[in-house]
Amino acid sequence: MIAAMHSKLQSITKRWYSLTTRPGKAKQQWSAPYWQDIDDIRDIACKRCPKFNKGRRECSISFGTPLRKCVVASIEAHLHDSQQLNVLELGFGRFTLARNLIRRSGGTWTGVEPRLPKSRRPRIGHGGYGHAGEIPFENASFDRVFGIQSLEHWGQKAYTAVEPLNYADCLQEIRRVLKPGGALYLDAPIHFHGHEMFIMGDLPRIRALFTPSAWKDVVIERWRFDHQPLEAYPPSAKVQKEWPLEITSYSPEEVERVQRDASVWLLTLSASRSGD
Ligand SMILES: C[S@@+](CC[C@H](N)C(=O)[O-])C[C@H]1O[C@@H](n2cnc3c(N)ncnc32)[C@H](O)[C@@H]1O
Repeated sequence: MIAAMHSKLQSITKRWYSLTTRPGKAKQQWSAPYWQDIDDIRDIACKRCPKFNKGRRECSISFGTPLRKCVVASIEAHLHDSQQLNVLELGFGRFTLARNLIRRSGGTWTGVEPRLPKSRRPRIGHGGYGHAGEIPFENASFDRVFGIQSLEHWGQKAYTAVEPLNYADCLQEIRRVLKPGGALYLDAPIHFHGHEMFIMGDLPRIRALFTPSAWKDVVIERWRFDHQPLEAYPPSAKVQKEWPLEITSYSPEEVERVQRDASVWLLTLSASRSGD
């Protein structure tokens, strides 16, 4: 009963947050560099994140798991300014923060989602059926394409809505619908679920998907990789149950190390279409 009430309250808070977040406020909050460069990665340690409340030593986003808090923060950091842009979301599900920010900042949001009936064709400005391997729009339709907590599922073996897809094919399809120079933004949890390269946190393998002939300005961010002074977020036994089915290319020792030491963090990937 108490758990059900808590969950209802969280869902109302999440909805309220999505309805009330303003592009101007997000722009102000995320205008200064919020990361630290570590090798060729942008690292957003919790203690330096604009969402960290130093007095209370907690994340100021009051709903969601530690991962979802980072998802929210990174959406605000990356998607607050879409003025006059045609923007496509892949796998939009039910979370509307990005859609609201895009529309409020003067952009046009369109979405594709494989869980919808195939008969629901998407139109510019609306959502409908489609997925990363089959985007029912003309070449060069969008200024920006993005996906929130979707990328890791595209090639996942156990996912039921779409057959496991090849990442190279998906990126080619995304590139096709992007205008020359158009931007891509994706996020995915690391050490959580989905395709094995995300469970294992294999950044070289993930980065290698973005071939220089097709993509430029590739930026990888790590949110909550350094979670101090906030709590670690170990993958639950429930999510780890799926791992043996997904993980086939790594040694038992490598898997054991991740099982033992992992704390879930958020990867974001930004790139723009090159080769035009
Ligand atoms: C964990 S949910 C995230 C939903 C929403 N974006 C959010 O942040 O709450 C994963 C989403 O990715 C979608 N998805 C799975 N495979 C996909 C694919 N191949 N192309 C596009 N979306 C896909 C799912 O249907 C689902 O809506």
